[in-house]
Amino acid sequence: MSENAKIDYTTFEATVERSRKLDEDLVKNPDKYRVLTGDRPTGRLHIGHLFGSIQNRVRLQRLGVETFIVIADYQVLTDRDSFDSISDNVIQLAIDYMAAGIAPDNGKTFIFPHSHVPELNQLVLPFLTLVTNAELDRNPTVKEEILASGQKKINAGMYIYPVHQAADILFCKGNVVPVGKDQLPHLELTRVIARRFNDRFAARKPVFPEPQPLLSQSPLIMGLDGSQKMSKSRNNAIMLSATEDETANLIKKAKTDADRLIEYDLQKRPEIANLLLIASLCLGRAPEEIAREIGNGGAGALKKMLTESINEYLRPMRKKRLELESNMDYIRQLIKNGVQKARQIGSETLEEVREVMNMKI
Ligand code: TRP
Repeated sequence: MSENAKIDYTTFEATVERSRKLDEDLVKNPDKYRVLTGDRPTGRLHIGHLFGSIQNRVRLQRLGVETFIVIADYQVLTDRDSFDSISDNVIQLAIDYMAAGIAPDNGKTFIFPHSHVPELNQLVLPFLTLVTNAELDRNPTVKEEILASGQKKINAGMYIYPVHQAADILFCKGNVVPVGKDQLPHLELTRVIARRFNDRFAARKPVFPEPQPLLSQSPLIMGLDGSQKMSKSRNNAIMLSATEDETANLIKKAKTDADRLIEYDLQKRPEIANLLLIASLCLGRAPEEIAREIGNGGAGALKKMLTESINEYLRPMRKKRLELESNMDYIRQLIKNGVQKARQIGSETLEEVREVMNMKI
């Protein structure tokens, strides 16, 4: 059994602990790791993404870890009918990444849509033979997405996209995957696929690593309605690309409560606590301290200071965003570079895969 196969992922606590240790080692040995992470191109990024995952990626990049970011455009087809805006969303996503500090011009960070990397997609076929229908059927994240999509007819792509995600991760032998809790079942499946592939075809010399999840340490940001996760489709999000006035208007409408005294109390005052949390992330100060400062100023004062702190915090990113938007050729070129790198690595992996599977001619 390889060292990785002994890792205990059976409980969430064990995963958190393991992720913490991994984080420590990433700082010490950035060269040992290749980060693979990704998003679906369903729209622009909001501050929930920024504080939840993007900043963590920027941090890893600054440690000097090689980083591959897959834009999962095929996955968009699993839960919605529309596809007209996919290519625009891909470009806008890349612009958001770069405005937030992802640097695909540093020679170590690569952004690519997986539809452009045939070598990656080809791995889906052998991988599909390593999992059972029952395993795909019981994936809790897929189940939730099926419910949320509201679709009556579920396409097979929905059930197999976690296998596709394994190909996204393994084609470049990514060994660290920064994820939120909802993605853990997918990562577990990726680990299972890597293990079964190695056991079946490459027992003597494993082809794939068993990638480890790196859980984000930032707290979950709720939407401005205070009751559900921030998300563009729920209309409760502050987009990176919003103007300062749009931001002010959104915060004006944010849900609060009738109590004038501002306190940081997650249980009893969730809406106020969420606004304080966002302010604290922008200001780099404790939410309790900000609450004390506002004291009896009420929700009005809190909203005013939140608007100012968000707009100030996002100002340099928004400026960069506008500059990038006026240079589409440059963005396209960086994505093409990412595709080229991904294809080169993917064809090396595919060669190895054919070799161990006795498919060389
Ligand atoms: N499934 C992820 C999501 O819905 C997106 C994704 C696709 C991904 N491929 C990936 C994430 C590989 C991490 C690694 O957000």
